[in-house]
Amino acid sequence: MKTNPKSEIRNPKSIVVAPSLLSADFRNLEEQIRFVEKGGADWLHLDIMDGHFVPNITFGPMLVKTVRSISQLPLDTHLMVEKPERFIEAFKQAGSDILTVHIETCPHLHRTIQQIKSLGMKAGVSLNPSTPTHSLDEIIEDVDLILVMTVNPGFGGQKFIPSMLKKVEEIRSMMTSAEQFLEVDGGVDVTIVAELMKAGANVLVAGKAIFSQKDITRAVKILKNITSKNT
Ligand code: DX5
Ligand code: ZN
Repeated sequence: MKTNPKSEIRNPKSIVVAPSLLSADFRNLEEQIRFVEKGGADWLHLDIMDGHFVPNITFGPMLVKTVRSISQLPLDTHLMVEKPERFIEAFKQAGSDILTVHIETCPHLHRTIQQIKSLGMKAGVSLNPSTPTHSLDEIIEDVDLILVMTVNPGFGGQKFIPSMLKKVEEIRSMMTSAEQFLEVDGGVDVTIVAELMKAGANVLVAGKAIFSQKDITRAVKILKNITSKNT
């Protein structure tokens, strides 16, 4: 049965922490989700990979539906797939709240964004590390969320690319609405959070930094604490 997200997806005063389930122990998925909920996770980040756009395959709407049945947190769905427009409806049905497509995969990005919004989901656009910020020029006002990849997409546990800090800053300066989210994804851990926030990020995805810890709840709490200290 589909449950409604308990928290409204509005641009918050506080920073959003979104654990990436890619690094979770799937043998105990429900327990792992409870751990991050207990730590104060704001969203759950779900990485959909197709083995074409990125060199890895993960999961699809079926697992999103399972996660929806476990948690009421907003589901932040990151599509690393070619021709993502084929799957918009399926992810809506599965219970996604936010659907982010990669700019590199969308020749008709404006149409794709409108399709996502017309189904009542928040629409995001993501940029690979090598994709220039100016590629957002014509679309930035239409999206709810911009996701800056701070590693090359495809795998969890990679090293943060430091030059992406400047990119985050540039994109923040291009953003016009305070209601838009600026999300960073890849290699995010406690050592970089303050700088990311200073650059203007307000949604932090973290996989390894959370799920590789013995105490997952504590790992989320620590991240949340750092964000509240820096706001
Ligand atoms: C990478 C994914 C990320 C990944 C982040 O392509 O988009 O969401 O799970 O994991 P960490 O935080 O381990 O880099
Ligand atoms: Zn992701």
